Amino acid sequence: MSITRRPHVRLRAIATAVLALEAAGCGCPDPEPDTSEFTGTVKGPDLKNAREDGDTDEARCEAACRVVAAEVLDEIEKCEAKGPETDPSKPWAEGVEEITVTCTATYTPFQFCTGRRPQGHKEADIAVQSRAGWFAVHAHLERAAVTAFRELAAWLTGRGAPAGLVGRCRDAAADEVRHADALEALALRDGAEVPPPRADPPVDDLFAVACHNAVEGCVSEAFAAVVAAHQAAHARSLELRVLFTRIAADELRHGQLAWDLHAWLWDRLTPAQQTAVAELQARALLDLPGNSRGAAAATPRELGWPDPAHAARMAELFARRLRDAAGLAA
Ligand SMILES: [Fe+2]
Ligand SMILES: [Fe+2]
Repeated sequence: MSITRRPHVRLRAIATAVLALEAAGCGCPDPEPDTSEFTGTVKGPDLKNAREDGDTDEARCEAACRVVAAEVLDEIEKCEAKGPETDPSKPWAEGVEEITVTCTATYTPFQFCTGRRPQGHKEADIAVQSRAGWFAVHAHLERAAVTAFRELAAWLTGRGAPAGLVGRCRDAAADEVRHADALEALALRDGAEVPPPRADPPVDDLFAVACHNAVEGCVSEAFAAVVAAHQAAHARSLELRVLFTRIAADELRHGQLAWDLHAWLWDRLTPAQQTAVAELQARALLDLPGNSRGAAAATPRELGWPDPAHAARMAELFARRLRDAAGLAA
């Protein structure tokens, strides 16, 4: 791949175009996921969540299927729930304490793109197939983003970066504190614990920081802004629409900060390093649709995420626009 120009990206225009194009039904081919059968029992809070998550028995069964599957599911093709032996035909009746679920589903491994992981971040093992779990994993990632921006501000200060960039990182850290606090409160209210983020110390190396920013900031956090905007419009409750409206505006600023930082770092890289960073970024953009499809499948619909096919389409549109703006090869 050869990169001849300095990346110059205006994220707001791209995010607006992706949301508008996606809403107009602009599509692209979907990747081929794997298919498996899952079976297991669901009880306690998981059963309660499955009952409340669906408006129909089919939707309840799908919520329960997400609990028994060890993978995060893209699409559920078949789902059967059975109640106790005394009356297996009424798994969703009041008073039933345990059900058995058998389902056939497709899945793709994924990571949520929320927030910005600091360098050396260690992924927490949090089950995300419920509303409480979703809030917990996102509160955890938002808290990790606080560290990421604080480390970045300190590193940029040490490198004599413009005060504007340093100040924007400090402001972003303060935004991430608010995001983490808000999502942690929702997780706790739903009965989930939020594990604190863990990470190795950051590496003091310009190339390492550029690689990290090119993926975590320019791709993950920037796309998180688009998804948050979708949640702001589609989350079921007013409380969540208000919260995601605020988060979307903040994440859009953070995504733009990542691209402005990318340009500053770019000027300090050797041509070979620029090529390596661009390749890494192109790979992250290529992985984004599959990753987003998986994340969407693990997200309860009430939270306003697009459905899996829809999320993959948005990610593909986003990746295409970013490639054009940044001069990256497909
Ligand atoms: Fe955030
Ligand atoms: Fe952010």
